[in-house]
Amino acid sequence: MIILGIESSCDETSAAVIEGKNNTVLLRSNIIASSLPTHIKTGGIIPENAAREQIRYIIPVIDEAIKLAEIKLSEIDAIALTYGPGLIGSLLVGVETARTISMVFNKPIIPVNHMLGHIYANWLIADSKGQIEKEKPYAISHKQSARIQFPSLGLVVSGGHTDLLLIQNHGKYKLLGGTRDDAAGEAFDKIGRLLGLGYPGGPYIEKAALHGDPKRFRLPRPMIGSSDFDFSFSGLKTAVLRETQSFGNLDTQTVNDLAFAAQDAIVDVIVKKSIKAAQKYAVKSILLSGGVAANQSLREKLNVNCQMLNVKFFAPSKNLCTDNAAMIASAGFFNFNPVSWNNVTADPELYFE
Ligand code: KG4
Ligand code: ZN
Repeated sequence: MIILGIESSCDETSAAVIEGKNNTVLLRSNIIASSLPTHIKTGGIIPENAAREQIRYIIPVIDEAIKLAEIKLSEIDAIALTYGPGLIGSLLVGVETARTISMVFNKPIIPVNHMLGHIYANWLIADSKGQIEKEKPYAISHKQSARIQFPSLGLVVSGGHTDLLLIQNHGKYKLLGGTRDDAAGEAFDKIGRLLGLGYPGGPYIEKAALHGDPKRFRLPRPMIGSSDFDFSFSGLKTAVLRETQSFGNLDTQTVNDLAFAAQDAIVDVIVKKSIKAAQKYAVKSILLSGGVAANQSLREKLNVNCQMLNVKFFAPSKNLCTDNAAMIASAGFFNFNPVSWNNVTADPELYFE
């Protein structure tokens, strides 16, 4: 089955082609256009700007994905589409484009929850090192994805969400907990701004933390010991604000030290809560996903903890952690519920049922 994925929920515009067979997904193309340079100028995403850029990108991006996959639009079996959650203007660009293709070519649409899509990037894992092979960028080996066993713990750590899901099987999942205020990525971004680093803050904090002194600051770990599986990161941002105010001008070493402390606190909370959930529900695997899943410290600490528990740990290759259409197509393949174009609408507030 050949699926065209379309993703436009936030600032990225992406189209991908996958070929699904049994328990495996072959990635044939994955094109991503980002309006990040526009958002860097404003220090964050202005929704109108994002949607305006996406209107320009969406057709060329789909065109390129189809060409790279060496197929024709008429040869796809279905369109997997992000219909929520996200920015309404951005979502509508993808939704209206998918509806048009669906109507013209008579292909059904598989509506995909963006957050669930992140988790399915784990079925796109490439070689044994978790990297897409450089010389054959879209030839994915199936060895790792075939090993994913249920029940599984899905951990989505992105700019808008920090969610823990118990996944019993494809299409059968339950939300265990989520963020009560700022998501992990949002915390990285806001703390990055406080430290005068670039946007988005996550990758900059990760880089600065490499030169940080682990012993200089210790920041709070909000809700680390609570009996539920919820998260809260807004207190951490306030704690960093207090530290920065006590310094006046921040020197580079202090920025690096605070970056280390902030990353350490966020990673610590995510790892402890995930491992607690993994133990409680006796899962066989943990599937890390979302933009923050690109963080090396988070990947390493989860991996070590999973090994101790004898739970298999999966994380997508780093370029598939942030928003892309390949993960949406993968989710569409494993959760195949096609509908006709006139039954698809954008749902900016969509959450897990
Ligand atoms: O999943 P994503 O691309 O978009 C949403 O659906 O929200 O996630 C974006 C988030 C941003 O907050 C960004 O700072 C964070 O992912 N991020 C990282 C890293 N790379 C991206 N956070 C920590 N470390 C990273 N290396
Ligand atoms: Zn996302």
